[in-house]
Amino acid sequence: MSTVAFTCPRCFFTANVSEELRYCPHCGLPDAMDAALDHEPIEVTVGSQRFEVFDRIEIGAISTIYRCRFQSTGREVEGIFKIARDPRVNELIENEARFLRRLHAAPEAARFTAFLPAIEESFRFGDGSSVRRQANILRMHPEIRSPDELYSLVEIKAQYPDGLDPRDVAWIWRRLLSVIGHVHAHDIVHTQVLPMHVLVEPREHKLVLVDWCCAQSLVEQRAPTIISGGYRAWYNRAGGATEPATRGLDIDFGARCMIDLMGGDPVAETFPLNLDPALQRYFQRCLSPKSPGSTDAFRLLADFDHLIETLWGPRKYRPLELAPKSRK
Ligand SMILES: Nc1ncnc2c1ncn2[C@@H]1O[C@H](COP(=O)(O)OP(=O)(O)OP(=O)(O)O)[C@@H](O)[C@H]1O
Ligand SMILES: [Mg+2]
Repeated sequence: MSTVAFTCPRCFFTANVSEELRYCPHCGLPDAMDAALDHEPIEVTVGSQRFEVFDRIEIGAISTIYRCRFQSTGREVEGIFKIARDPRVNELIENEARFLRRLHAAPEAARFTAFLPAIEESFRFGDGSSVRRQANILRMHPEIRSPDELYSLVEIKAQYPDGLDPRDVAWIWRRLLSVIGHVHAHDIVHTQVLPMHVLVEPREHKLVLVDWCCAQSLVEQRAPTIISGGYRAWYNRAGGATEPATRGLDIDFGARCMIDLMGGDPVAETFPLNLDPALQRYFQRCLSPKSPGSTDAFRLLADFDHLIETLWGPRKYRPLELAPKSRK
């Protein structure tokens, strides 16, 4: 049975517990939301807006993610209800809302906000009997109709354990570099460009970079970089790019995601044997320590386009086959 890190929002008891756990083993507090959702959707009202929260997608390290439904500009939309698992991380959920709002407000936002979730609401959730936890309601691009259309790179790797064809990886990398480049142009770094945060829609080749809880501004006072569970070796390998976080960190991690996806070893920095040596050199260049130009996402994108056109000719659409998602 798989286990997850658990911290009780009432008594702060912390342990690895079964994913099935519904009650704090120390104080017995049920996660009121999960328990209620066993029976029917929960209705959450914020101001005059009503959100129907109806099933859990993921228990993350700091938050629990549910599906939700609401009215937006006259039509029903499916989005994400993300709530802190512990009130001590409320600030991180607020941090996500702050950075996403800032990015969506950018003058040229229309060029890149399809790659980012949007904040519909950010608020404290809970009644008087429990400590109030911060929650974000996130909306995806209107053409992504449901969270079911999105697959994380972890999910894709599970379906292609021997590695994805580099021609499929190419469109994912091009979109990832593009969103990273736009975000960096605003002096913001994501700091956790990791496989579970890169979501793609395989049919129309859309991409969304999620989890902005640990984003940082390069020009404001800096919080320490938070190391995401299971990826300590990546932070160690990224060396000087981690503390304080730099643009190079996002690019380094993005490149490790691609190496992993192609069936290489993102920690040992080895590539699948049949990967063209020019592509190997290219991805090697994206990793820390830095070579000139290797922290500039737009330049890396232009270089990549040039390289793949040389290798494979003009770009053309390739469908990526993935099994439909089964709901947990
Ligand atoms: N819009 C979405 N559509 C589908 N899945 C999503 C969406 N947003 C998040 N997820 C899934 O939920 C997971 C957890 O979300 P997020 O990273 O925002 O929270 P977290 O508490 O930091 O979790 P983790 O510790 O797993 O990173 C993501 O890694 C992703 O797989
Ligand atoms: Mg996360």
